[in-house]
Amino acid sequence: MLPTIEWKDDAVVMIDQRKLPSVEVYVTCRTVAEVAKAIKTMVIRGAPAIGVAAAMGIALGMRRSKATGTKQFATEFQRTCDLMAATRPTAVNLFWAIDRMKRTFAAAAQAGASVDEIRDRLDAEAVRIHDEDVASCRAMGAFGAALVPQTARILTHCNAGALATAGYGTALGVVRAAVEQGKQIAVLADETRPFLQGARLTAWELVKDGIDTTVITDNMTASMMRLGQVDLVVVGADRIAANGDVANKIGTYGVAVLAKEHGIPFYVAAPISTIDLNTPDGGHIPIEERSDREVTHVGSFRVTPEGARIRNPAFDVTPAKYVTAIITERGIAEAPFDASLAGLCRASG
Ligand code: MRU
Repeated sequence: MLPTIEWKDDAVVMIDQRKLPSVEVYVTCRTVAEVAKAIKTMVIRGAPAIGVAAAMGIALGMRRSKATGTKQFATEFQRTCDLMAATRPTAVNLFWAIDRMKRTFAAAAQAGASVDEIRDRLDAEAVRIHDEDVASCRAMGAFGAALVPQTARILTHCNAGALATAGYGTALGVVRAAVEQGKQIAVLADETRPFLQGARLTAWELVKDGIDTTVITDNMTASMMRLGQVDLVVVGADRIAANGDVANKIGTYGVAVLAKEHGIPFYVAAPISTIDLNTPDGGHIPIEERSDREVTHVGSFRVTPEGARIRNPAFDVTPAKYVTAIITERGIAEAPFDASLAGLCRASG
């Protein structure tokens, strides 16, 4: 598997997910502004990967800083964190990663560290966030695979794979772990209009791994379920509220409602960093509206007439009542989610 994102020679290098699957090219970000732009324009996307990119962006920004005194360095650090926080609003992993970097800075400053020492600690923290994410995905995979029957047709929406994380994936981590256990797995990947993360990215990853993959358009899901061709659903999440409501890629809500109607388990795989106990329910989750162009065009081809109004909410909220279980790196949460999620968050990591 090609790495999604790397800290390399004082630069942040990421595979350009806008270009996949046609071309595999890497983008090298040498400034914090370049990392912020890469997150905004979806060179890198997926909640955990956005968090890793933000942490590396902050470390990069502070490495490039010309500040000599800690006061000026601290002012620049705050500005850098604000820049990152303004990139994408829904994935809480972004704010979680920024908070970790802030805590690292504060601890180092309090211990009387020099500007150079603070820089080193920020670099180390960013790399730690990256490495921990891969470990979390593997742990999630192990817990999730236990829920997968020996033979299973798994439907997924968007891309919650290696590309959306530091590696291995959340929902696709569950798929990979089940395959590694010798289970017979076939994946149905929703294409995921408008950005086509399912058709382009999920299918690309799974085909590369030799996993049986079928791409369907989003409007085929209902029929596939009614025809008995889906055994379970597993998706990722961008933010999970304290009550278990799940924000994920637009279209997830519809999949969850359909799954309940057809008696199909609907699982969400997400790390603890995606659980936001400060957000009481899904109604409080900010939903990003992206540019009209993602809807009006497929690639460079215009599919809507000039003059039609466009809506492009990038995420929706699936109420907790549709969620069978939430798979994390610390175990599996079931209803009532307010108690089970709080318990997992409190447990030591
Ligand atoms: O807009 P995106 O591509 O960043 O949205 C990604 C998703 O909705 C994923 O399903 C989610 O971040 C989980 S990734 C492990």
